[in-house]
Amino acid sequence: MKFTERLIEWYKHYKRDLPWRNTTNPYYIWLSEIILQQTRVNQGLSYYYKFTQNFPTIYILASADIDFVLKNWQGLGYYSRARNMHFTSQEVVNKYNGKFPAEYHELLKLKGIGPYTAAAVSSFAFGLPFAVVDGNVIRVLSRVFGIDIAYDTTSGKNHFNAFAQELILNTNPAIYNQAIMDFGSIQCKFKNPECVICPMCDFCVAFKKGLVKDLPYKSKRINKKITYLHYFIVSNQNSVWMQKRTEKLWRGLYDFPFLEFAEKYSIKYIQNTKEWQDLFFGFDINIKSISKTIVHHLTHKKIYAKFWYIDSNDFIKKDYVTIHKNRLINLPVSRLIEKSLNINIH
Ligand code: ADE
Repeated sequence: MKFTERLIEWYKHYKRDLPWRNTTNPYYIWLSEIILQQTRVNQGLSYYYKFTQNFPTIYILASADIDFVLKNWQGLGYYSRARNMHFTSQEVVNKYNGKFPAEYHELLKLKGIGPYTAAAVSSFAFGLPFAVVDGNVIRVLSRVFGIDIAYDTTSGKNHFNAFAQELILNTNPAIYNQAIMDFGSIQCKFKNPECVICPMCDFCVAFKKGLVKDLPYKSKRINKKITYLHYFIVSNQNSVWMQKRTEKLWRGLYDFPFLEFAEKYSIKYIQNTKEWQDLFFGFDINIKSISKTIVHHLTHKKIYAKFWYIDSNDFIKKDYVTIHKNRLINLPVSRLIEKSLNINIH
């Protein structure tokens, strides 16, 4: 077929030399694919090197402390991916003798491995014909073949999956999958794709019909929830109050005490709320300074955060632990907290 032939030809000339492409070790491939679901290749590279250096085998990852795994993941977001990775490494060691199963449907049973990762690992490590379908692939297919079905609906997803699966048959699955992802990120880019020098331009439906900007088609837009977070960096001598989060967001990461509001309130107003009383009642505290507002974006949330620097010589509040400031750097924290540490702690 013209599409697959041209794709492979293009890949031979333009492929990127990436470390996870020079191995068929399923453990390394799995690490890379989980990382690359969270970030672009450029940033992903440093995480890949860090993980393969600190956890060179699946046994080492399985026996590592979860805090250390989260620390290595710091900055990538979606920390459940790192927790699932740790869990799955233990499962592979305990149930599969340390070897990833060489079978798509067995891979799918592992925590954190969905159709995308199962297809990537089974094709790259074991040469099996399962098509990866990610944002790059959907963009390429929808444009070249003029598919205007919304990809964020169940029927749209099924359509793209089935179509991609048809295309991969009769190819070298590993090369085909790598090629279509590179083609999507280098050539058929989201913004300003280079259509005039594209090897598909003589039959690309979107190019011929002037629909490149309209495809892929998405039915919904995410409306981000806005939230106001006030963090309290309560220092007692050289230590600060912290707690390990149990909430779904950032679970397992260390956090300062905080109050969250759906609205913007003044500093004065906040100190008169019931929530403030619940947090600080009975404690002798001294507010030293308050940071400027920091804007932090998550997929579904826009956070306006302020950091309050507070001194207290009182005992620690129940539910919190005291962490010496020198130890903060070693703890897994969210990117937002990391930003605050860079501001400085008095
Ligand atoms: N994005 C996700 N997986 C990738 C891979 N194997 N190579 C390049 N980019 C990717």
